[in-house]
Amino acid sequence: MATTKRYDVKDLALAPEGVRRIQWADRQMPVLAAIRERFEREQPLSGYRLFVYLPATTETANLARTLKAGGADVVLCASNPLSTQDDVAAALVDEYDIACFAIKGEDNDTYYSHIEAAVDHKPQLTMDDGADVIGVLHSARREQLGDIIAGTEETTTGVIRLKALEADGKLGFPIIAVNEAKTKHLFDNRYGTGQSTIDGIIRATNVLLAGKRFVVGGYGWVGRGVASRARGMGAHVIVTEVDPMRALEAAMDGFEVLPMAKAAEIGDLFCTATGDKGVITAEHMKRMKDGAILSNTGHFDVEIDKPALRSLATETRHAREFVEEFTMDDGRRIYLIAEGRLVNLSAAEGHPALVMDMSFANQALGAEYAVANAASLERKVYPVPDEIDREIARLKLATMGIDIDQLTEEQARYLASWDEGT
Ligand SMILES: NC(=O)c1ccc[n+]([C@@H]2O[C@H](COP(=O)([O-])OP(=O)(O)OC[C@H]3O[C@@H](n4cnc5c(N)ncnc54)[C@H](O)[C@@H]3O)[C@@H](O)[C@H]2O)c1
Repeated sequence: MATTKRYDVKDLALAPEGVRRIQWADRQMPVLAAIRERFEREQPLSGYRLFVYLPATTETANLARTLKAGGADVVLCASNPLSTQDDVAAALVDEYDIACFAIKGEDNDTYYSHIEAAVDHKPQLTMDDGADVIGVLHSARREQLGDIIAGTEETTTGVIRLKALEADGKLGFPIIAVNEAKTKHLFDNRYGTGQSTIDGIIRATNVLLAGKRFVVGGYGWVGRGVASRARGMGAHVIVTEVDPMRALEAAMDGFEVLPMAKAAEIGDLFCTATGDKGVITAEHMKRMKDGAILSNTGHFDVEIDKPALRSLATETRHAREFVEEFTMDDGRRIYLIAEGRLVNLSAAEGHPALVMDMSFANQALGAEYAVANAASLERKVYPVPDEIDREIARLKLATMGIDIDQLTEEQARYLASWDEGT
């Protein structure tokens, strides 16, 4: 990289506020801080050019600082046009000397030009979110594939795509699937997204959830979190699913389970969390009540059919920040939050730092593992090794001041035997 001062951010004068907020998040990220201290001493990423493609938030800034402390030459590029925190992007450049390409609300051309600029840094390691960077490196920038020794992937949707690429025999380098770590999806996807999604919906609309019918599309890790938090706010939660096991679980967790066509008729608020496309379509929109509010917290903005909403509308207007109003020909109004993009990252601040501490500990240790094992890793999608996952859980418990019991030798023997005590 020619210089670490390469950047495109909104305004460097925002840096002091960004620094304060990055430090605030850092206090909630003790596991990552401990890794940063060790990385400073051991320099496990020394000399590696690393492309971080994640939302430009305070938590990501602390991850980037950690990777830099480990010796990596880091370039950060926003993984979503609406999730950038401009003060954080400024602080990364101005205070922490980390190359950063991220502007909140950037248009599509700028967004893709930022990815290009970051790829121009000739990365050897990638940290992807939704397999976008992998997509670029496997198409327009194939000539750079040979430079990459490994990558990590943050989210469910990305892991699904990377496994498909591997199954096609086309994956160009090994991937550590951070999302597959238990200390990632059990906590980040469920509790982090659960809370921050509700936060985003409330910040955008200021609606009272109590007494409302709140429809959650998908009962995976994210859907479970959103459903349980919406119930906690007093909403009557309805779940839609395509998987009988998950639908059964939702029903036994006490939620009403309906097909979307029926839920559409009675829902006040909708939030999709499936990783799938076309979960809410024109047919559903035609049945919705006046005032229905639509949002999405799945990775891509394809879960709600936005083109259909636009074509059904006779009039659209900006109702309030992050909320667009669509008037139907019969006078009904439907509201869409944050253009159907990740509502928690667009209208709120993404996951609380305390939970990102574990996700990003997995990212940092995943990168270290990939570098240390580069010679033996094949072009496959690997889970985060169980020892790393368990170590993160152990460290997190310790930082939360929680002690747990230890197996006695006798108990360990008993649990490993097939005949003792029967
Ligand atoms: N907003 C965030 O910050 C955030 C955080 C983590 C994950 N994600 C994203 O959220 C999405 C869901 O992640 P997850 O970990 O819960 O995945 P998951 O695979 O655990 O769950 C997805 C669920 O959606 C269901 N589903 C699929 N198509 C459906 C349809 N048409 N209608 C109803 N249900 C359907 C599946 O059966 C499954 O149960 C992914 O795109 C993931 O990348 C977002």
